[in-house]
Amino acid sequence: MEAGMPKRKEPGKSLRIKVISMGNAEVGKSCIIKRYCEKRFVPKYLATIGIDYGVTKVYIKDREIKVNIFDMAGHPFFYEVRNEFYKDTQGVILVYDVSQKDSFEALDSWLAEMKQELGPHGNMDNIIFTVCANKIDCTKHRCVDESEGRLWAESRGFLYFETSAQTGEGINEMFQMFYSAIVDFCENGGKRPGTNVSISFTKEQADNIRRIRNSKDSWDMLGVKPGATRDEVNKAYRKLAVLLHPDKCVAPGSEDAFKAVVNARTALLKNIK
Ligand code: GTP
Ligand code: MG
Repeated sequence: MEAGMPKRKEPGKSLRIKVISMGNAEVGKSCIIKRYCEKRFVPKYLATIGIDYGVTKVYIKDREIKVNIFDMAGHPFFYEVRNEFYKDTQGVILVYDVSQKDSFEALDSWLAEMKQELGPHGNMDNIIFTVCANKIDCTKHRCVDESEGRLWAESRGFLYFETSAQTGEGINEMFQMFYSAIVDFCENGGKRPGTNVSISFTKEQADNIRRIRNSKDSWDMLGVKPGATRDEVNKAYRKLAVLLHPDKCVAPGSEDAFKAVVNARTALLKNIK
């Protein structure tokens, strides 16, 4: 049996799984867990010291699931404490705060920390990840929009949910889908069920949408050098238009990226003889 996989059990029998939370300090990891397990919200920030541990029992498709939840501290200071807890995990709740861009940008480094701690024989493909775009109640300060978060998550085959631990929005749905995906994965003998986390767009499409969102001007958006010729602009435009046309591309943010490319071409051609 591969490391990280729980024992396969007969359908209907209870299953024991380990779940961890990951993400920067103060993004709301503990509050999400508290909201689900205790149905309450604590507005005061009580930083997790190292790690908090809890056990809960849930029922998924008539099956009893015993969940061991390890709620990690996000502060770098606690790295030495939490690094012990990455192994033998079946599910990860990866959280960022939609009003803190750096917490979104830190998601890759959280995956890198986990990968490093699991070592060369660790297999992250055995783990179900769910991404929580948390604090969606903070609408005024939101700076990471849904399509950007969804694109990051779904291009990696992760689940994605918009959540608020404060109002409870999205929390039950997230846990239900997350636990169901873990159970399906275990019952499939470690094969990802096609329906749950299938990716319906290509990496090239996702990479281009991300690049277009972060581009600094119209040249950059089309991926051509400043001063490029009409032909070069049109060629780059045609390639991106085919790749990102909303009829062909279902990746989150593709429609906006397509419009941005059309506008960039129009703006550039106005000034090129
Ligand atoms: P560490 O344990 O330090 O890693 O932080 P954490 O990610 O566990 O954050 P925690 O759950 O303690 O929440 C941090 C702060 O954000 C607290 O003041 C919470 O009340 C607040 N908070 C958490 N979730 C939400 C939310 O959905 N909306 C709003 N408005 N505040 C939230
Ligand atoms: Mg915490």
